[in-house]
Amino acid sequence: MPLTLTRRQLLAGLAALPALTPAAEAAAPDLPLPPLVDLEKTGGIAAFTAQKATHQFSPGGPASESYGYSASFLGPVFKVRAGTDMKVQFRNALDVETAVHWHGLLIPSAVDGGPHNPVAPGGTWEPTLPIRQQACTAWYHPHPHGDTARQVYMGLAGLIYIEDDASAALNLPAAYGVNDFPLVLQDRDFDDQGVMVYDTSPMAVMHGARGAQVIVNGALQPQAQVAKGLNRLRLLNGANARNFQLRFADGRSFAVIASDGGLLEKPVTVATLVIAPGERYEILVDFADGKPAALQTFPDYNGDFGTGTISALKDRLAAMTHEAETILTFAPVKPAPAAKLPASLASLPAANAAEAVQTRRFLLNPMNMMNMPMMEAAGQGGMANMNHSGMMMQGMMKGMKMAMPGMDMSGLGMGMKMAINDKSFDMARIDAEPKLGSSELWELSGEAMAHPFHIHGVQFRVLELDGAAPPEEQRGWKDTVLVNQKTRLLVRFTQTATAEKPFMFHCHILEHEDAGMMAQYRTV
Ligand code: C2O
Ligand code: CU
Ligand code: CU
Repeated sequence: MPLTLTRRQLLAGLAALPALTPAAEAAAPDLPLPPLVDLEKTGGIAAFTAQKATHQFSPGGPASESYGYSASFLGPVFKVRAGTDMKVQFRNALDVETAVHWHGLLIPSAVDGGPHNPVAPGGTWEPTLPIRQQACTAWYHPHPHGDTARQVYMGLAGLIYIEDDASAALNLPAAYGVNDFPLVLQDRDFDDQGVMVYDTSPMAVMHGARGAQVIVNGALQPQAQVAKGLNRLRLLNGANARNFQLRFADGRSFAVIASDGGLLEKPVTVATLVIAPGERYEILVDFADGKPAALQTFPDYNGDFGTGTISALKDRLAAMTHEAETILTFAPVKPAPAAKLPASLASLPAANAAEAVQTRRFLLNPMNMMNMPMMEAAGQGGMANMNHSGMMMQGMMKGMKMAMPGMDMSGLGMGMKMAINDKSFDMARIDAEPKLGSSELWELSGEAMAHPFHIHGVQFRVLELDGAAPPEEQRGWKDTVLVNQKTRLLVRFTQTATAEKPFMFHCHILEHEDAGMMAQYRTV
């Protein structure tokens, strides 16, 4: 036996015992809750600092070098009322350049915080964000040119709750840390000592960086003490690349009430939910039975088989319940505040394709593989296959990794480039110029694997997903959607975007984004 057991090995060992001792049960760490900063109490000010830190992913565990926003990992939840301004006071205490982007906010591009708004080490940035959209769960994270993936992986991300009168009138669970919980889902890799490591191999660029362990709010397999009644879980997939396929171990169903941009028309009852990087869902779960419950996910094979459609993921989910991994347990021990599951939530305008004045097509694809020495050896025929799917490429990379374990993969001249419509990101190039106030149809497809596609400055509607009608939970406002086969969005452009500081649209597999699967638009 190794001297140090991973937590998972430990739990597996314990589970094999006839009964858990109370001491063993008490071992699960409490779910960390980021501080909630209510902007009504700070005069609208959201002050925070990006900083270097060390972080323990389990209590008493080894310390890992990390980044945090005024914390050792992640950052505060900022709660802001629609109709008010969020006055940001950001400071960069890192020794590298960063940028902060407000993912999901409908604000002008000048304050959107993409790569055109860099903040130098020691620098500050103080934009005022006019919050003029309906209640939703949005988030903020780094977006510097070429270094987004690593900075997010190190720990930079946080949530923004927008509240409004309409959502308050629904009496949804809203007591923070009692029956309303943020759940930031991520995956991380750890070395033998339990220290966080970041995979920068070409495979990780190809596939997105994956971690062997899931963390929730920066903790490994925590336990949340929740209300013995209805609870609201605000889910963010904050992983660099991994899709999570969520279900409860006991198969209990739950109600999806909101997607990225706000409330759905009515609750959608499901037993499983796929959440892709960048996406948010709010769900209501009933723990009135007082029984402990475990939230589980499953291996994400996106890219391995060249497909990652929602239905494929769901099929696999059904077939693979034995591969379930518990990522969080719930202990319903707190008295439940009054809360209810309303029959209807919001009224949404019909998503009418006829509104669109223009259609644009975007293919999310890898490119430039022919720069690699082995590509030349593969010859023209091989190349054609490669460009067609990228899967062969992945197979080769894996084979190589196995055949040459000690080899430095970075030495292969891997200018691994990702693209949209065969063009890799260029900060000086504007890729689309939609008319301010108009609606457009964006027709997307993804090569080699499914790509979580995100557009800044909008909330869109999904008309068609992977060639079919979208599932109910994807029929509300969204800013990120997992794309593989033909997908059609109805996008309305309400925010001004300039040529100097345009809006981004990109794959939210952050390694793909950094490698160039990103483009930009301005409004005209
Ligand atoms: Cu969440 Cu351009 O990003
Ligand atoms: Cu965004
Ligand atoms: Cu991608």
